[in-house]
Parts: sequence; C-alpha cells; structure tokens
Amino acid sequence: STRRPFIAGNWKMNLDHLQGIALVQKLAWTLKDASFDPKAVEVAVFPPFTDLRSVQTLVDAERFGLAFGAQDLSPHDAGAYTGDVSGAFLKALSCTYVLIGHSERRQGHGETDEVVHAKVQAAVRHGLVPVICVGETEEELEQHGTSAVPVAQTKAALAGLPAGTPVVVAYEPVWAIGTGKVATPETAQEVCGAIRAAVAETLGPDDAAATRILYGGSVKSGNIAGFLRKGDVDGALVGGASLDPTEFAAIARFQ
Ligand code: G3H
Repeated sequence: STRRPFIAGNWKMNLDHLQGIALVQKLAWTLKDASFDPKAVEVAVFPPFTDLRSVQTLVDAERFGLAFGAQDLSPHDAGAYTGDVSGAFLKALSCTYVLIGHSERRQGHGETDEVVHAKVQAAVRHGLVPVICVGETEEELEQHGTSAVPVAQTKAALAGLPAGTPVVVAYEPVWAIGTGKVATPETAQEVCGAIRAAVAETLGPDDAAATRILYGGSVKSGNIAGFLRKGDVDGALVGGASLDPTEFAAIARFQ
C-alpha cells in the first residue's frame, strides 16, 4: 500500500522529563547509527504531559524524523477545567498526534464513546491528528466476537467528521495489553480490515485507503514483522517495549 508504516511508543505514566530526554536522545542516535530512513517508516513517541516541552526542545524533528504526541487532551478548548490540558497547548508545543480513548482511560477514567467523540472533535479543531484507540475486553470478545466492539467504537469516534480528516486508529485488544498475550497476525488483520471498512462507511473510501490502522498489545521486536506483513496492519502502538530505546528502535526497523 502507499501508507507509510507508523511505529508509535506510548510511555504511559513512565519516565519523568529527565528520563524522557535520555530516552529520546538514545533513540534518535540509535536510529541514526542504523541509517534508519524516516521516509520509509514514521516513528513517534507519546510522553507524559510534563515531558512534552523537553522533548519538543530536544527533538530536531527534521533531522531525526521523530514525531511526538500527547497521551490525552481535554474535550474543551480553555477555561475552568482544573487539571485538564487543552489541544491548543499541545499544538503550541508542536505535537503532531494525540492518543484518544486508550483502554486505560476508557476503563480507569470512565471515558465513554461520547467522551472519545468529543475529544476527537477537539483534536481536529486544534490541528492535531487523533490516534483513536479501540479494542475489546476478554469478556466482550466472548460475548460479541472479534470485530464488533472495535468497529462500533471506531464508528462512534469518527461520527460527523468531514471526509479528508487525517486520523489514525489503533486496535488494541485489552487482553493483550501489558500481558505478553499477543494477538495473532491473522486476528489483527481481521479486525484492522473491519476497522478499515468502518472508516470507509464514515469518512469514505479514499480516507479508508489513506488511514493508518495500527495493532497494539505486547508488540516486541520479535513479533512486529508478522503484523506488518498483513495488508491492513500499518504499524504498531507499543507500550512496555517503547521504554527500552534499543528494543523500540529494533521495532521501528522491522524489515
Ligand atoms: O498503548 C500501548 C498499549 O497499551 C500496549 O501496551 O505494549 O505494554 O502491551 P504493551
């Protein structure tokens, strides 16, 4: 396909800004030493909010071809929302991306499809590309089968967006996150294919062809290639393995 593979590292609540600086420096030089070609694969990191300014200052995006984003944003633009962070502030720090609806936010912070939808709208308003996370729990898998929940979550998140809106969707089966229980490439392909059909239904066929759909859940350098060989899997959202710059660089160099 013409879609540039995308390897995204979600640090979650790990690494303060000093540790974040160290990781990004090591990652950038590891990729550079390996003559990594950022035109062939896009690499992005998603540090905690408190690290973003350091990472922005440090990463010479053009030189190293590294992008970055935040792990969440407020559905509101500004005002009396104590503790929230506006998409406008993220844009001002040159964030390209923002994760929305990670299962740890859906489960731990009660984020419904409505909240996810409002956050996607906020991201788009501020010129950020939403990386919309979808996926089923083990219980939902038993009840509804493989694709039903992620497809419904995708449609809810994208509802009302105009065609041509750049988005990324990450399929993360909840039972595969941080468990070492990785989905098979065949399952990932089946669900990512169904998600692409849902993008076609909501944003149209051209957007469906252009949208990158990632797999996430216990991705490592040893299993990434199997996923990327599948036609509808365009990359990975990596948690634990993104905290080790050598391992994360190896994932980015999956070929
Ligand atoms: O956002 C990343 C996912 O939650 C995957 O985490 O690679 O530690 O399983 P993991």
